[in-house]
Amino acid sequence: MLNTSRLVSYLTMGLFFISLLSGFIVAFAYHPSLAFQSVQKINFLIPYGLFFRKLHYFSSEAFTLFLLLHVVYELSKQRVKISSSSWNYSILALVLVIILMFSGFVLKADASGKAAAEVTFNLLKETPILSNFLALLKDSSIFYYKFFIWHILFLPIILLYAIYKHTNTLQTRIEFISTALGVTILTLLIFSMPKDIVLGVDVKHLSSPWFFLGAENLLAKSWSPLSVNLFLATPFLFLILYFYTKHKNIIKVLLALWLIVYILISILLK
Ligand code: HEM
Repeated sequence: MLNTSRLVSYLTMGLFFISLLSGFIVAFAYHPSLAFQSVQKINFLIPYGLFFRKLHYFSSEAFTLFLLLHVVYELSKQRVKISSSSWNYSILALVLVIILMFSGFVLKADASGKAAAEVTFNLLKETPILSNFLALLKDSSIFYYKFFIWHILFLPIILLYAIYKHTNTLQTRIEFISTALGVTILTLLIFSMPKDIVLGVDVKHLSSPWFFLGAENLLAKSWSPLSVNLFLATPFLFLILYFYTKHKNIIKVLLALWLIVYILISILLK
């Protein structure tokens, strides 16, 4: 009999596989040199293109939400039953998923994706040490080229490795992949994807992806890129500390407080 925690882990893995698979399919029609046009071609010209794009979008969103649920579930337990290396790989996986979600948002190459890329360049440029990594993302000839390579190749490979090291296996059960597929298809039938915003069209406000809204609002309130980056890194530092400290309950309270503050900043600080 499966308990809820197991169920969440297996479904998370199922959604991960759907996200990877649909990503590979969409990537066949995506061209970083004609990014926006190729996304519109996927939407309107390629048979089942929009279906697979939606499958990728909703499975990725659901994967991220289930992953966060998995973290909350594990933290709610009294004892941590995994090794320190498995714990550290789980935090690496969490960071990689957020970067994958963000780079995917950029890759759709509409006005909000382009703005998100520009903000990332500025955040990196203005932050000591991180500025050295700017060249890993910024390409002088094809704007989306490096984001593309990271998103479809390096990040998924490192993520697969991190998940493998965290769980000791990459196996999942076929029934969970099919459940994940079913859940994703149901979601895409009920909800619509955010609309792509054509470049150059005058819109009042270009929004970041939901998990980055707090950071966007802090930047708009003139927080320096360094302080925003430090603020974003805080929960991950808490998570690392959680494994090694005896005062786990204090860390849990701090994590919950950070989350509440971040949600409030995302919603109220417009
Ligand atoms: C678990 C890993 C992955 C996550 C979380 C993820 C997430 C995302 C997200 C959120 C988007 C934006 C969708 C949109 O708003 O249109 C996106 C776009 C994209 N992803 Fe992924 N992705 C993952 C893996 C992959 C893989 C393995 C590939 C290809 C091999 C891929 C290829 C693409 C392409 C080509 C786009 C741009 C087209 C579009 O916007 O639909 N992704 N991804």
